[in-house]
Amino acid sequence: MSAPNKSYDPVEVEAVKPDEVARHRADALAAIAAATSLDELHQVKIAVTGDRAPLALANREIGALPPAARAEAGKRIGEARGAVKTALAERQEALEADRDARVLVEEAVDVTLPWDRAPRGARHPLTTIQERIADIFVAMGYQVVDGPEVEAEWYNFDALNFPPDHPVRDLQDTFFVAGKSTGEGQDAAGSGMVLRTHTSPVQARTLLEQGAPVYAVSPGRTYRTDELDATHTPVFSQIEGLAVDEGLTMGDLKGTLDHWANAMFGDGVVTRLRPHFFPFTEPSAEVDLQCFVCKGASVGDPDNPCRTCGSEGWIEWGGCGMVNPRVLVACGVDPERYSGFAFGMGLERSLMFLNNVQDMRDMIEGDVRFTLPFGMEI
Ligand code: DAH
Repeated sequence: MSAPNKSYDPVEVEAVKPDEVARHRADALAAIAAATSLDELHQVKIAVTGDRAPLALANREIGALPPAARAEAGKRIGEARGAVKTALAERQEALEADRDARVLVEEAVDVTLPWDRAPRGARHPLTTIQERIADIFVAMGYQVVDGPEVEAEWYNFDALNFPPDHPVRDLQDTFFVAGKSTGEGQDAAGSGMVLRTHTSPVQARTLLEQGAPVYAVSPGRTYRTDELDATHTPVFSQIEGLAVDEGLTMGDLKGTLDHWANAMFGDGVVTRLRPHFFPFTEPSAEVDLQCFVCKGASVGDPDNPCRTCGSEGWIEWGGCGMVNPRVLVACGVDPERYSGFAFGMGLERSLMFLNNVQDMRDMIEGDVRFTLPFGMEI
């Protein structure tokens, strides 16, 4: 601070001269207006209002003025400082408003974005169809039984009356576990294990475990050495049915299949049996399902083709027959007292015509986009 001024001499107190004050005031206001962020404004505020700010220094010089000049200089500097303060406050408010508007845009939450970032899966339609069929049979008093997918050759073939070394075994293009039995040399027996080629071995297991009478269905996975394409897959699923009791006839078999067809495909849908051969049933038949879409109306009517049955009126569904007495004997059941029927259907095939699935590969790829549209039937 300068020494007190006895006689007012504005030259001696440069800082408080009106021009100087006006210049400091203008500089400060310009700096405030030029601040483009709250941080910048904070720095400007220190520069224009802090202890070292020109107007603060000028204020301190007031005391060096002669008393007569102090009031006017004080008013001038006070006004300048007031204007700076007001400008700071206004700029602060404007920059805060800018920031708030920007934050609103930048941090906006789009409530229309999908919220389901971890979408739920869906039950596979093969699982659902197995449960639907099992339910139909449970309602008729059947049990649901299970068997291993790695199965002894004996259950898969021998117990079911497939003769040893008979080419009929090759009909089912088997995956042998650790080698096929050759009957010769060290590896004569092979491992004796296969990936089951059908669910029929569960028939033998159930009869051996429970004896007769027995009523059971067994859904599950089966394997054959097929290439994967639109209509074949080396891993597929079947459902097996077995009923052994006193006095069962083919009429019981037909009635059971018709009831199943009605329950699953609609009232009045019937089945038809065509003679066939399976080693484990005698007589044996292939089961056709009446087309549940056109009910046969598309046959011979080129104007109304049916996609579901290919205008055949019938859809191949599976195999069936009366349990061969040799199977009953192999499983310790007296064929003089008991008779039985059995049937087996492919589940992928059933799904294909039930839901118009065109490509079997979709069923095994595990893509949830295939599975979801089937819904969450439980
Ligand atoms: N196991 C047969 C197959 O895989 C299907 C079959 C036919 C099962 C007749 C049966 C039956 O129970 O009686 O082709």
